[in-house]
Amino acid sequence: MSTVNSIEVENLRRVFTRRTPRKLPWQRNRQVNGNELCVTGSDKSGNQPKTTVAVDGISFEIQSGEIFGLLGPNGAGKTTTIKMLCTLLEPTSGTARVGGYDIVREPAKVRGSMGTVFSGERSLYWKLTGRENLEYFAALYDVEPSTTASKIDSLLSKMDLESKSNEPVERYSTGMRQRLAVARALLADPPVVLLDEPTAGLDPQSARNLRDTVRSLRDEGHTILLTTHYMAEADELCNRIAIIDHGRIIALDTPAALKAGLQEMHSLEVEVDRAPDGVLDELRSLPLVRGVESHASNNGLETWTIRVLTEDSRQTLDALLDLLRASGDRVLNMKANEPTLEDVFIALTGKSLRD
Ligand SMILES: Nc1ncnc2c1ncn2[C@@H]1O[C@H](COP(=O)(O)OP(=O)(O)OP(=O)(O)O)[C@@H](O)[C@H]1O
Ligand SMILES: [Mg+2]
Repeated sequence: MSTVNSIEVENLRRVFTRRTPRKLPWQRNRQVNGNELCVTGSDKSGNQPKTTVAVDGISFEIQSGEIFGLLGPNGAGKTTTIKMLCTLLEPTSGTARVGGYDIVREPAKVRGSMGTVFSGERSLYWKLTGRENLEYFAALYDVEPSTTASKIDSLLSKMDLESKSNEPVERYSTGMRQRLAVARALLADPPVVLLDEPTAGLDPQSARNLRDTVRSLRDEGHTILLTTHYMAEADELCNRIAIIDHGRIIALDTPAALKAGLQEMHSLEVEVDRAPDGVLDELRSLPLVRGVESHASNNGLETWTIRVLTEDSRQTLDALLDLLRASGDRVLNMKANEPTLEDVFIALTGKSLRD
């Protein structure tokens, strides 16, 4: 891998300011039991500016030929970061360079050096065939006309879409549409490819195929930035991962190094017959416990899974079973696991990536 940086991000920040919808006259200063209800902090028209810090000063560098993952829960700021890097959104402050070009001062050059795919692609033309879509976008991206046909043929073959290339996109499966979107992003042969949740909504087989495609793009020399909230995907695919939460990067390393940081930790999983809300706080306050989360078990039954990250599994398990017994929760199953990236996230934030 060369050490040239394809993407350099420095202290990037994006704040959204949104006004709540304008209130109609009878909605303002309503009377409640004869008292006037005041809307505090509102301006004269009753509108209240609301700000959201979507991305809160993130910095990272991605080297050429790397697959770099932004891993984080819903609302962490992943899509906002991608949108700033592909020049769809201006940063509130901070800088970023893609292929050496500044995203604010040289947006056209930035766009020329990258291809972007958003999840649930809506920018394809559903009435056009796959091939017609690629012909249209090739013209839009100024692809050399003499090479357009051969380039489209090779992309359709690479994305395994040859047999469907003359069918309208509305007849494509979600996985095929996603592959066509990747083909579109590669039309101008960009050195950098941004993928926002590339496997969201795909069945396991299509997701696996797409991950293979991402790896082969890297092997061909593309630099890839992808976002995901699937830990296993980030673990399997990425050379390095930045874990992002509430707009901030809370850890950045290779998957192996992130997990090695938890070498002294044990991950316990206990399945119980109902939501174990009563015991979680007590569990968190036990000595040697580094993180606790619970979620509805993904097994079609109405059971819950408690996950505990601890420095001493035996002591914690005893205490956990005592707590569950006292609260009347029934234990259905339990096991100890090797720490995963999810445990890294739990150790850093005290909560699950699923939240
Ligand atoms: N146009 C907008 N106006 C106001 N707030 C926004 C806007 N776009 C995003 N946000 C807010 O910014 C925060 C980050 O959103 P973003 O879409 O970047 O998160 P994400 O990590 O991509 O989440 P997800 O996993 O759900 O896709 C969220 O709180 C979101 O509600
Ligand atoms: Mg998103």
